[in-house]
Amino acid sequence: MKKPIAAANWKMNGRSDEVIAFAKALSEITTNGEKIFAPPAAYLTTAQAYNSGFALAAQTACENADGAFTGEISMPMLKDIACQYVIIGHSERRAIYGENDKVIFAKIQAAFTNGLTPILCIGETDKENQSGETEAVLTRQLKLASEGLSGEQKQKIVIAYEPVWAIGTGRTPSIDDIQAIHQKIRYLFSQNDDTISASVRILYGGSVKPDNAKAIFALADVDGGLVGGASLTIDSFEKIIKAL
Ligand code: PGA
Repeated sequence: MKKPIAAANWKMNGRSDEVIAFAKALSEITTNGEKIFAPPAAYLTTAQAYNSGFALAAQTACENADGAFTGEISMPMLKDIACQYVIIGHSERRAIYGENDKVIFAKIQAAFTNGLTPILCIGETDKENQSGETEAVLTRQLKLASEGLSGEQKQKIVIAYEPVWAIGTGRTPSIDDIQAIHQKIRYLFSQNDDTISASVRILYGGSVKPDNAKAIFALADVDGGLVGGASLTIDSFEKIIKAL
């Protein structure tokens, strides 16, 4: 019932010819899981024009629907171009653009209001990890969503656990640690509701590569991956999709 996900987060990379080639090739790849492509905002409609078999995601969006917010893109606009997912609270948005848990929750609500599925990113920094604060950080980052969303929304949302120190570094937590943390996240988020626990998809992100994807995706509480660097070429992303 619950489909695993392989999501390609291109961040601020690529040009239209690369987006087109990737979208065409991605459309052809067969899987029992779900393929998601998050190109830069400038190329969302380009990717959509060549989409015949994946879900389109935005990398961020505004919590407001319309108005004087220069540079922003709204959830109703994403809905308008048939975007299905929106990544919210990526650690780069939190660290570089100052997004806090409150604004991130407002974005999650705006996504749901417009029929989009949010992919909520959470994860601790290296320093927080070293000082044993991982669980406290994840609890704080999950709090508004776990307390404020309806049961139905909690079944639908996708959570991506991305330890900040693993993003783009080639370092990952051990396989045992990934499973233990995902199990903890599922427990913290579902708050003893078995339906939510069984439905919510929790992705792992942070240096997912063709050579570690299979072991990570095989873990009981991992429902796929959010992939940055290794999604930039279709060959490596295809291997990751095939590991689902
Ligand atoms: P990475 O990025 O796969 O390059 O580590 C993952 C992400 O930031 O979503």
